[in-house]
Amino acid sequence: MYIWSMSVNGPIGVFDSGYGGLTVLKEIREKLPEYDFLYLGDNARAPYGSRSFEVIYEYTWQAVQALFDRGCSIVILACNTASAKALRNIQQIKLPELHPGKRVLGVIRPSTEELDKHTHTKHVGVLATEGTIRSNSYQIELAKFAPDLVVNQHACPMWVPLVENNQFDTPGGIYFIQNDLIQLLEKDPKIDTILLACTHYPILQEQLRRLLPDHIEILAQGKIVAESLADYLFRHPELADKCTKNGSVRYLTTESAKDFSEKASLLMNTEIQAEHLTLH
Ligand code: DGL
Repeated sequence: MYIWSMSVNGPIGVFDSGYGGLTVLKEIREKLPEYDFLYLGDNARAPYGSRSFEVIYEYTWQAVQALFDRGCSIVILACNTASAKALRNIQQIKLPELHPGKRVLGVIRPSTEELDKHTHTKHVGVLATEGTIRSNSYQIELAKFAPDLVVNQHACPMWVPLVENNQFDTPGGIYFIQNDLIQLLEKDPKIDTILLACTHYPILQEQLRRLLPDHIEILAQGKIVAESLADYLFRHPELADKCTKNGSVRYLTTESAKDFSEKASLLMNTEIQAEHLTLH
């Protein structure tokens, strides 16, 4: 089975707990249009943000295996919460033991490398889920790459449910979003760059731009991850060769395929047809 899966070529897998990873997939496809992609959203079990380490690890590993089973040699965890909680164990324990020829990549490292290039005041904000904030992954990575940065973190537990339920542009949704922004900026008025460290948050880009002062730059991860993947494939031609290149994309969801197709098409402003998948 393992020899078989090593020899099969297939798409690049992109995983998220729900719809958020679509914002990353969009940028990756723009950067690497020739590649095939297989998106998996675990919508039935989203949000991951307030779940325990053990549960996020288990769910993420199930998703990664499902993508491996469908021929993926590279899987992007386009989910900060999964990257923060599951990536290290998958890379250090699961892959060497079970799939030495495959790779799982996260979104945190490339984003931290970029953040320092954008701030002038050296005071930055990181908005993410509770799980990502509690893991301190951004603080830890930023301390390595940019120790002079003043990093203010803030968890926004309502934002993912607002996106998953398409409630973010309602008066109630705006109230929660504004409230979190005020709390972040009260911590440190010198913040000039805010990293959206959750792949769901770029879906709120329009609302965020309206609510934040003009001098604050909003940094989304899609382009950063796309650049980083392109660079990775360039540096690892042996893996790039295992990825098929017909410019196609397929979408899998653990929720209803019909619901996913409707909501994802609306959120991404393009026609999306999903298929259902059960993870266990
Ligand atoms: N989109 C995921 C992230 O980047 C989180 C969503 C969730 O809480 O499920 O962190």
